[in-house]
Amino acid sequence: MDIVEAIRLRKSIRGFKPDPVPKEVIREILDIARCSPSSLNTQPWDITVVTREVLDNIKKGNIKMLTAGVEPNPDVPFKPYEGIYKQRQVDLAIQIFRLMGIAKEDKSKRAEWMQKGFRFYDAPVAIILSMDKSLDETPLARLDIGAIIQTICLAALNYGLGTCIEDQGIMFPEVVRKFTGIPESKRTIINIAIGYPDWDFPANELETKREPLENFVTWCGFA
Ligand SMILES: Cc1cc2nc3c(=O)[nH]c(=O)nc-3n(C[C@H](O)[C@H](O)[C@H](O)COP(=O)(O)O)c2cc1C
Repeated sequence: MDIVEAIRLRKSIRGFKPDPVPKEVIREILDIARCSPSSLNTQPWDITVVTREVLDNIKKGNIKMLTAGVEPNPDVPFKPYEGIYKQRQVDLAIQIFRLMGIAKEDKSKRAEWMQKGFRFYDAPVAIILSMDKSLDETPLARLDIGAIIQTICLAALNYGLGTCIEDQGIMFPEVVRKFTGIPESKRTIINIAIGYPDWDFPANELETKREPLENFVTWCGFA
C-alpha cells in the first residue's frame, strides 16, 4: 500500500469482526513497526500482545471495576482538556454519539458505549505499550511511543486490519498487570485495539475533521 494512501486512509475503528488475527500477521506488523525512530535510538517501548482468554479476562476485569464505581487509575495520569482542545473532544463525542444513535441524556447508552471502550471495542487482539519507569523524567520517550503506535496503525492497514489507539483499555493497570504479568517497574502508556473492521458498525463511518494548515503552520524564511 502506498504510504500517502495509508496515512490518509487510517482512521480509528471501533467495531470489529470477531475473526481472530493470526499471530504471524501481528508479528509482521510489529517487525515493520520496530523500524520506528526513537530519541537516540533508545527504543523505549515494551509491547504486550493479548488475545483470547487473556484479553477476555482483562475485559471482564475492567468492566467489573467500572461497574463497581472504581475510579480509573491509569499509569499515566490524565488531566482534563481545556479550551479548544476540550471543544474538539466534545465535537468528537457528538459525532460518535450521533452515528451510534445515542442521545445526550441517555445515560445508560452512554455508559454502555464507555464500557465498549474499556472492552477494547471488542477487538480480538489488543497491543499494550509500556515503558520502563526509569524513563519517567524523559518526556522524549513518550514521543517515541507516539511514533511507534502510528507506525503500527499504518502497517496494520497493509493486512486489512483496523486499529483504535486507546487509553481506556489500560485505565485499570492493576487488571492488565494481573493477567499479563507486566511488572510494576513498567508504566502502561497506551493500547491499540486491532482486528478486521466491521464496516456495518455505525461508528466506523466516522470521518474526523482536521484544522487547515493555515491554523497551525507558521512559515519562516520562505519567499
Ligand atoms: C493518544 C491517543 C489516545 C486515544 N484514546 C482513545 C480512547 O481512549 N478511546 C477512543 O475511542 N479513541 C481514542 N483515541 C482515538 C482518537 O479519538 C482519534 O485518533 C481521533 O479522534 C482522530 O480520529 P481518527 O483516528 O479516526 O483519525 C486516541 C488516540 C490517541 C492518539
